[in-house]
Amino acid sequence: MKMDISIGLLGLGTVGSGVVKLIRQHQEELVHQLGCKVKVKRVLVRDIEKERDVQMDPASVTVNPDDILNDPEIDVVVEVMGGVDKTRQYIIKALENKKNVVTANKDLIALYGPEIQEIAWKNHCDLLYEASVGGGIPILRGLTDGFVSDRIQKVMGIVNGTTNYILTKMMENGVSYEEALKDAQELGFAEADPTADVAGLDAARKMAILARLAFYTNVKLEDVEVEGITNLLPEDLHYGKTLGYTMKLIGMAQCQNEQIEVSVQPAFVAKSHPLASVKNEFNAVYVNGEAIGEAMFYGPGAGSMPTATAVVSDVVAAIKNMQLGVNGCSLKGPRFEGKLKPLDQRFGQYYIRLHLKDQVGAFSKITAAFSALNISFKRILQTPDKRDELAEIIIVTHQVSLDRFQKALLQLNEMPVVKEVNSYYRVEGEA
Ligand code: NAP
Ligand code: HSE
Repeated sequence: MKMDISIGLLGLGTVGSGVVKLIRQHQEELVHQLGCKVKVKRVLVRDIEKERDVQMDPASVTVNPDDILNDPEIDVVVEVMGGVDKTRQYIIKALENKKNVVTANKDLIALYGPEIQEIAWKNHCDLLYEASVGGGIPILRGLTDGFVSDRIQKVMGIVNGTTNYILTKMMENGVSYEEALKDAQELGFAEADPTADVAGLDAARKMAILARLAFYTNVKLEDVEVEGITNLLPEDLHYGKTLGYTMKLIGMAQCQNEQIEVSVQPAFVAKSHPLASVKNEFNAVYVNGEAIGEAMFYGPGAGSMPTATAVVSDVVAAIKNMQLGVNGCSLKGPRFEGKLKPLDQRFGQYYIRLHLKDQVGAFSKITAAFSALNISFKRILQTPDKRDELAEIIIVTHQVSLDRFQKALLQLNEMPVVKEVNSYYRVEGEA
């Protein structure tokens, strides 16, 4: 076995700098674990003149990806530059050149993970992407190794640090959406373009990856229903708080009888629910398995050093596999072709806010429509509205199937007594 293992980094930004720092600071432990040194031989950047968080030997910094991808001394390529097209090209080239690949890139893995995995297998190389979900939380390894003996039925959680940070600041400190987003960007949690964070797409990519590994099926990104946090109204946050809820962007993946359901949407979470106490940039993922019951993973979902721990753990795993001569053997392909669950088998509780004409019998028309659909109310709140002759009503339902809930919404929108259905959200837990 070689005395030094050389790795090449594609990217030296928030995560890349953390990786360099961690490898330097923990070299002694790495040597203890691996019996060899780990050396960052070369780093790819866009702008060679840029000031960096870490001191680098100028000779090790390049703008030419081939200096890494074609270097026979480099055994592990670590992709922490982000983006999809170029990275896909670079990673495929690295694998074809028999280099193991570690990436933090959920955009790429969500879109092209299965295709790139096939190339990795063909070339007997590892493709590892622990940092792509949950930052520093070892959730992917938890699913693929820790729960390998179980049957996972549900994975639910908070998988985007930026939106959790924004929602925490808005709910608890009354900070505006814009100000909270700016802070998250400055703190390095948000993506270079934060649209993917706030539109729920970043979380959707992570849920697709989680669902694939949890259920051994090829979940596609387009299978994930996505709604972000950009259209939340202060009135709803206020009423939610009054009713004992907090707002979270919740990712959920369920599998029953080889039918799957994967979604990302803002939801009201009861303050007593463990996910309600997950604040700021922290992430948490609940796993529900047939044998384990419930387990929860919690930790920092973004940021330089936490994410670097996941990246470097993958580097260590790839090197250990090199030492055993088993690269490219760890994951298995999908076990079944997942079909989407029909709406009548998807259940949830819902919060609805609507404006009714404030007249005799108006509310009974609503209750009649809901009871005809067998939907029962759990909580009702009526507040005086500033607008003349209107009543603002907030309803929280008991569990209802999604097809019946959607029918109820359609009927409400068509009722002459209903001025407007303002908003509706899924509800988790008992307030
Ligand atoms: P970042 O701070 O924007 O850093 C990107 C780095 O890649 C920069 O050093 C940049 O070079 C380099 N780069 C980008 N495009 C390049 C190109 N075409 N050619 C050469 N170099 C290029 O990004 P980051 O926050 O570290 O994120 C990196 C990846 O990790 C992304 O996939 C992200 O989704 C993922 N991730 C991030 C976090 C987090 O907390 N930030 C957590 C988990 C996963 P210059 O410095 O010269 O511009
Ligand atoms: N932008 C991502 C987040 C970084 O906020 O969670 C970690 O994947």
